[in-house]
Amino acid sequence: MAAGGADIAGRRAAIIPAVNYHLTSFGCQMNDHDAERMRGLLESLGYREAADRDDADLILFNTCTIRGSADDRFLGNLGEARRIKRANPDVVVAVGGCWAQSQKEQVFTQFPFVDIAFGPGEITRLGELIARERIEAVGAFSFDGAFSGTLPAKRDRPHHAWVQVSVGCNCVCSYCIVPSVRGRERSRIASEIIAEVERLAADGVREVTLLGQNVNSYGRDLPKGARTTFAELLREVGSIPDIWRVRYTSPHPKDMRDDVIAAMAETPTLCEHVHLPAQSGSTRVLKRMRRTYSRERYLDLVGRIRDGVPDVSLTTDLIVGFPGETDEDFCDTLSLVHEVRYDGAFTFVYSERPGTEAAADMADDIPAALKSERIQALVDTVHQTARARAQRFVGAAHEVLVEGPSRNDPTRLRGRLRQNITVNFSGDADPGTLATVRITGASSATLAGQQIEVHAIA
Ligand code: 5AD
Ligand code: SF4
Repeated sequence: MAAGGADIAGRRAAIIPAVNYHLTSFGCQMNDHDAERMRGLLESLGYREAADRDDADLILFNTCTIRGSADDRFLGNLGEARRIKRANPDVVVAVGGCWAQSQKEQVFTQFPFVDIAFGPGEITRLGELIARERIEAVGAFSFDGAFSGTLPAKRDRPHHAWVQVSVGCNCVCSYCIVPSVRGRERSRIASEIIAEVERLAADGVREVTLLGQNVNSYGRDLPKGARTTFAELLREVGSIPDIWRVRYTSPHPKDMRDDVIAAMAETPTLCEHVHLPAQSGSTRVLKRMRRTYSRERYLDLVGRIRDGVPDVSLTTDLIVGFPGETDEDFCDTLSLVHEVRYDGAFTFVYSERPGTEAAADMADDIPAALKSERIQALVDTVHQTARARAQRFVGAAHEVLVEGPSRNDPTRLRGRLRQNITVNFSGDADPGTLATVRITGASSATLAGQQIEVHAIA
């Protein structure tokens, strides 16, 4: 690929003297990962990142379509690309990711200024797509190409890396568009993942987050001789020298087995955090969502995780306003938040997505005003719980992996606890080191602290 890449870069450079790209990425961590790979690929081809969209020869989007609001946000940005292209028809507009996949039938007719559209399964073909002569628009939407994780990366954070372990999802959650835009689940073989993490460690990465749409069903699709369970993978990645912290996201509660909890308990580098999307606290709603667990089974799992992994932090995703959600169902979600005592939660208003079971069979019948009342009540409850939970850190000294200057106050530093909670603190530790920080205050989202010492890592 390197030789072909140089050739492509040469051809492009001959056509356009300054090859600048501008990339805007929306959506989930998998998209963050894919965006890092797109940047890495483009830069290996000789492209340079432009600070402004107006200065780019290639305007690239990595899109999301999980909710209607994601589509709206992207379409606003696409409108700006149209304006730029009108002024300069030589500019190439490329749209990748989940929205592109969902619009594959109509993207070129509805948005004729788009030159290239490709789905999340075709990211490795980006170099080839942009190198084509632009006689006509080109689309690429298959799911069986190479993993984007095999591309070079230009990482956002030097000491942290996303590591793709699988793509796609075999679940049939009735509200979710992901399976139709990311395809069936495919796992990377473990040796390839391990080799990638070893390379990352040699490159200064100290924390990795394993990524999959349903990360803990990893490995089930691999051929028998090459099959590794998710728990085995965690243990292997967790024992790679110079990798101090390992995280993973997002697991499905139905696939969370005791061997994973044991791996977390017994592997010191596996961090004490599980993001465990519940979606609802009502068994009745969970059934209609096709989540395949009940409230009771979810709570039982939470209990086993808490027993196995002391001081674990738990976060979740919750949806309000799912079709047919009654006041009682919604109260079950509120009470779930109290009962689990989440350290944080992403909260969403249900959004009907084309092609999903819920869109076909269930009326989106919760009035907008009631949806917004419920989301507000849920956000308040999550904040209360998270703030109360965060108090347990106050007064004690904790290990923080330093990321860089604090976002709000550059005279202070920012880092993260093993529990994935952000800490803003005064100190002088370098990014990519571990510091011991005394926690002095806590809000629902962040902690404040004072550095005591910098760790020496054996
Ligand atoms: N409406 C609202 N939220 C949704 N999510 C997925 N699909 C929808 C939808 N149609 C949420 C789920 C998922 C998170 C990534 O997005 O909570 O876990
Ligand atoms: Fe969507 Fe459910 Fe798969 Fe998550 S597990 S990506 S919510 S279908």
